[in-house]
Order: sequence, then structure tokens, then C-alpha cells
Amino acid sequence: MLLGINRCKLASPKATIRFTTVEGQRYNGSRADLTFSCRPKLLMSHSLAIYPGSFDPITNGHLDLIKRGSLLFDTLIVAILTNLEKEPLFTVSERVDMLREAVGGMPNVSVDTFSGLLVEYAERKKAQAILRGIRAFSDYEYELQMALMNRKLAPELETVFLMPAETYTYLSSRLVKEIIRHGGSVEGLVPEPVEDRLRKKVFPHQF
Ligand SMILES: Nc1ncnc2c1ncn2[C@@H]1O[C@H](COP(=O)(O)OP(=O)(O)OP(=O)(O)O)[C@@H](O)[C@H]1O
Ligand SMILES: [Mg+2]
Repeated sequence: MLLGINRCKLASPKATIRFTTVEGQRYNGSRADLTFSCRPKLLMSHSLAIYPGSFDPITNGHLDLIKRGSLLFDTLIVAILTNLEKEPLFTVSERVDMLREAVGGMPNVSVDTFSGLLVEYAERKKAQAILRGIRAFSDYEYELQMALMNRKLAPELETVFLMPAETYTYLSSRLVKEIIRHGGSVEGLVPEPVEDRLRKKVFPHQF
């Protein structure tokens, strides 16, 4: 069955789907059986993307990406990976609080946590896409490797890369922590409440 992209009228965004083409043909089956040309339409039916990361802590670069993602997708879940290899500065619940504060005014963005494989979490959430950011060439190799591995594990899940505003292309959580440890200012690089939390965390005796 070859369905053109404009000919699919979707009845349900679930893994097992039913829809009727504009010619009145009925389809009842698995999403994986659909011709590739029909899938972009499925993606647009109710698009849900997951933006995974460590967010230790959230920076204005992350926030820039979240804003762009929230305009592209109907729902965006910012998901904190809890089984990090690196030792985080902030606890998971502190990171959740900071993220929730930062995305508070965005009605289609929520914050969640997960451990284990991203593709399994994405499947549980019925997400169609993973959102990731590309800052510089240095991100590209790692991001590509991860995206292709995720595609191997879950062929229907697309990874979407977005670029931040130029001002944030050099910004990372690691650099922000380094600046604070050395007494520098991170004004404009992280949301204001995050700067306060960073100072309290790194220099607890000064407060
Ligand atoms: N300034 C930024 N602009 C665009 N994308 C970003 C930015 N910072 C992080 N990202 C993207 O957000 C995702 C999650 O990143 P992550 O939580 O590792 O942040 P990070 O700033 O890279 O932290 P760390 O320095 O601890 O690695 C990744 O896809 C990363 O490329
Ligand atoms: Mg990183």
C-alpha cells in the first residue's frame, strides 16, 4: 500500500493505528508497516519530543533550545537522565526544581526524570522525536554516534538537532560551574535563580 503524504488522515497517534485515506481506504495496523512517505504526517498529528540531558544545571543555552523545541512540537518533555556517568553537582530534585522554575511559563513543556535507555523511555512516553542541541563541531561526532545508535534501537524515533542563538554556542554546564568555582560571573548565561543556587552550592559557608 503506497499512501501519499497528503492522503493520510490520522485517527490515532498510537503505535497501533487506524486511519482512513481521503479516498476512503481504511488502514488498521502497525505504525512500522506504513510506507515511509506517510510517516511525516504521523509526526505532525500530535508531536511529542523528549529533550534529554543532565542539566547540571540548566543554562540559557538549554533554555534557548527548549523554547525553539516548544514551538516545533505540540509537547516537549525535558527529561533529566539520572544514571549519569559523571558526578553531578546538583541532586536530581534540585535540577528538576531549577528546570521547572525556568520553563514555568511554557504550557506545552514539562519536566521529568528517567534512568536506563533513552529509547525505552521514549517508547513509554510515545514520543516521536528526540531533541538535541549542536553547538560546535565538537558536539557533532558524539551526537551523531548517539543518534545513529538510537535509530538502530528504535528506527521510528527521529533525532532532531537544533542550533542555539549564536551567543550560546560556547556555553555548557561544565563551563558555567568552572566559572563559578573561580569566582567569575555567569550573568546572562544561566537563569538568575540558577546563579544564586550555584554560588550557594559551591561556596556554602558564605551564605
Ligand atoms: N548552549 C547550548 N546550546 C545548544 N545546545 C546545548 C547547549 N548546551 C547543551 N546543549 C545540548 O543539550 C543537550 C543536553 O546537554 P547536557 O545536559 O550534557 O548539557 P551540557 O551543557 O553539554 O552539560 P555538560 O557540560 O555537563 O556536558 C545536548 O544535546 C547538548 O548538545
Ligand atoms: Mg554535554
